[in-house]
Amino acid sequence: MKFELQHTDPRSNARAGVITTDHGHIETPVFMPVGTIGSVKAVQMTELKEDIKAQIILGNTYHLYLRPGLKVLEGAGGLHRFNSWNRPILTDSGGFQVFSLAGNRKLTEEGAEFRSHIDGSKHFFTPEKVMDIQRTIGADIIMAFDECTPGDADYAYAKKSLDLTERWLKRCIDRFKETECPYGYRQTLFPIVQGCVFPDLRRRAAENVASLEADGNAIGGLAVGEPTEKMYEMVELVNEILPKDKPRYLMGVGTPANLLEAVERGVDMFDCIMPTRNGRNGQIFTKNGILNMRNERWKEDFSPIEEEGASFVDTLYSKAYLRHLINTNEILGLQIASVHNLAFYTWLMREARKHIIEGDFSSWKRIMVERTMQRL
Ligand code: GUN
Repeated sequence: MKFELQHTDPRSNARAGVITTDHGHIETPVFMPVGTIGSVKAVQMTELKEDIKAQIILGNTYHLYLRPGLKVLEGAGGLHRFNSWNRPILTDSGGFQVFSLAGNRKLTEEGAEFRSHIDGSKHFFTPEKVMDIQRTIGADIIMAFDECTPGDADYAYAKKSLDLTERWLKRCIDRFKETECPYGYRQTLFPIVQGCVFPDLRRRAAENVASLEADGNAIGGLAVGEPTEKMYEMVELVNEILPKDKPRYLMGVGTPANLLEAVERGVDMFDCIMPTRNGRNGQIFTKNGILNMRNERWKEDFSPIEEEGASFVDTLYSKAYLRHLINTNEILGLQIASVHNLAFYTWLMREARKHIIEGDFSSWKRIMVERTMQRL
């Protein structure tokens, strides 16, 4: 994997770059739609490619390991072949899901024991096993196995948690180096900076990660219950230490405003379930603010979902029609809302990139942060 930094904003730390993988290029800043079990919920691959213009999608180790399981993924020749997505894929390690989804989890030095959220069956993930699973899934970018420290952890817990994440990271790297992609292309491993909201822990974590000289680096353990200002403070601090010539990925963030604030602070890659999950609940993100489609207000509003929106659904369908579909739990309502929101998120990052290159990112960002967070 290669990263070429093309432009840096003179008034902030925002950057525009290009990541090159064996499955193609990714222009940054980029939003990566989440396809947890190998599908971006309710969205067809053709829509993802042609309408949403997604450059890379996510998969999740925890979910894919449980279903369909490694035998099926290996038999298919990896996730790209299994789900017919031939552009880049990134898999999260399960370091987040094991701690947030699985029941009865138990952490030891060796790894994490957990029960499946599907059938309660018992499983054990070690850093080595998580590397092996991600080799089998075959994503272009794979993530280290970490403990996502809760945002309200005390200092003693956060330190102990970071110590463990750092020891696990070393084991991930060792295993990654001993193995190779079974499908003939290259995979790359991103380490994850933890450290909760404690500046000295974040600094230490970032220095350790920077010293590894990985192809790209991730910032985890944010947007997990800490105040938003703390999140920005940690991103700023960590990005002062992480190498400038490598992509930086802020995991699991966030609202349109969160993305823009993080881009300004030097983040290049994002993923979040917000556009799809909130979309399925009737929350529609637009460049002029957020619409709750369940609201009576839209009942007879026959205007387009979004004037000059980023997707074909925006002018094909009206607000009143989308409201009707969402309120009657029609599958088409989930599809339209998901496609619209994802197209908006990827558009927002393409626009950010354009303004970084044109040199007016900061003034554009200030306006967009305010505008996109209005409740309509
Ligand atoms: N997704 C959101 N936050 C995190 C994190 O801290 N670790 C991992 N592995 N995934 C995440």
